[in-house]
Amino acid sequence: MTILVTGGAGYIGSHACVELLNSGHDIVVFDNFYNSSPEVLDRIKEITGRSFLAYECDMLDEEAMERIFSENKIDAVMHFAGYKAVGESCEKPLMYYHNNIQGTLTILNAMARHNVKKFVFSSSATVYGDPQSVPIDETFPLSATNPYGRTKLMIEEMLRDLYAADNSWSIILLRYFNPVGAHESYMIGENPKGIPNNLMPMINKVAQQELPVLKIFGNDYNTKDGTGVRDYIHVVDLAKGHVKAIEYIENYNTIESINLGTGKGYSVLEMVHTYMRVNNVAVNYIFTDRRPGDIAECYANPEKALRLLNWKAEYDLEKMCRDSYLWSVSATKR
Ligand code: UFG
Repeated sequence: MTILVTGGAGYIGSHACVELLNSGHDIVVFDNFYNSSPEVLDRIKEITGRSFLAYECDMLDEEAMERIFSENKIDAVMHFAGYKAVGESCEKPLMYYHNNIQGTLTILNAMARHNVKKFVFSSSATVYGDPQSVPIDETFPLSATNPYGRTKLMIEEMLRDLYAADNSWSIILLRYFNPVGAHESYMIGENPKGIPNNLMPMINKVAQQELPVLKIFGNDYNTKDGTGVRDYIHVVDLAKGHVKAIEYIENYNTIESINLGTGKGYSVLEMVHTYMRVNNVAVNYIFTDRRPGDIAECYANPEKALRLLNWKAEYDLEKMCRDSYLWSVSATKR
């Protein structure tokens, strides 16, 4: 199949490109490089030894979307492009709604015009809001606690409406838990601009002594050691889940939401201590107040992915911590 990857130079998108190419699929990529860089595309080519067409354009640009579908024979779309910072979304909600929602609509309209009806959407465990219990399965009630999360939820709803109106579409909503780690070549990985929001990039910066101390947001949660618990998943495992999803909708007309997680919850302290041990580096930390909007525990029931896609995460926490660190070391040297 030829898959159009939106946001293909981003953290998860770039790893998905590698796994798609390694599985024998062809790809076409577009990215506006708002939060990524064109070099990433060269690195994907170097890692895989394969070439592909890439467009520098914005998903809000209707003419550009039209051109991509006119110039290529696209079979399916994997949609990663979008803004993703929770805090920023609270400060600039209209920017988030405009970009994420309108951008997705522009892509879906171009798809409809060209009769391309296979779509894999980059959703998030954030659509479960503050879950009543863990592990979380796909039947849990949906809600959102911030504008970023609401864009994910609204796009899910749009896609459910689209399928209800025309069941010749085939759509998978992949709900990611917490992606970390990097490709083993250490040529691609997560490289947030500015001060990171997420735990692993923050640990990397402290380990590299680019920042003095990791603030652990709260040690009074009702969890094993009082710190927040999440389902960290290696980004390469996550990317492989996307290949399975694309191959599933090649054969079925359906809409399915599917968790991509490991099913295991680790606390912030477990993460930090595992990272220090496997990499033999110090990570200074202090406890501070809880971060507003954070939940105590969030981890997946990943059985549906195994049942439908024959996919399960393979990499353990030690590999996630090792690959995150080694990527950050190689990124610093560049
Ligand atoms: N944490 C710290 N210090 C930091 C950063 C994070 O202690 O500097 C803690 C958080 O409090 C939380 C855990 O580390 O307990 C993980 O936090 P992240 O910010 O890495 O991830 P979140 O689970 O908060 O958010 C992630 C994604 C969001 C998504 C959300 C819900 O980043 O996009 O999961 O699925 F919406």
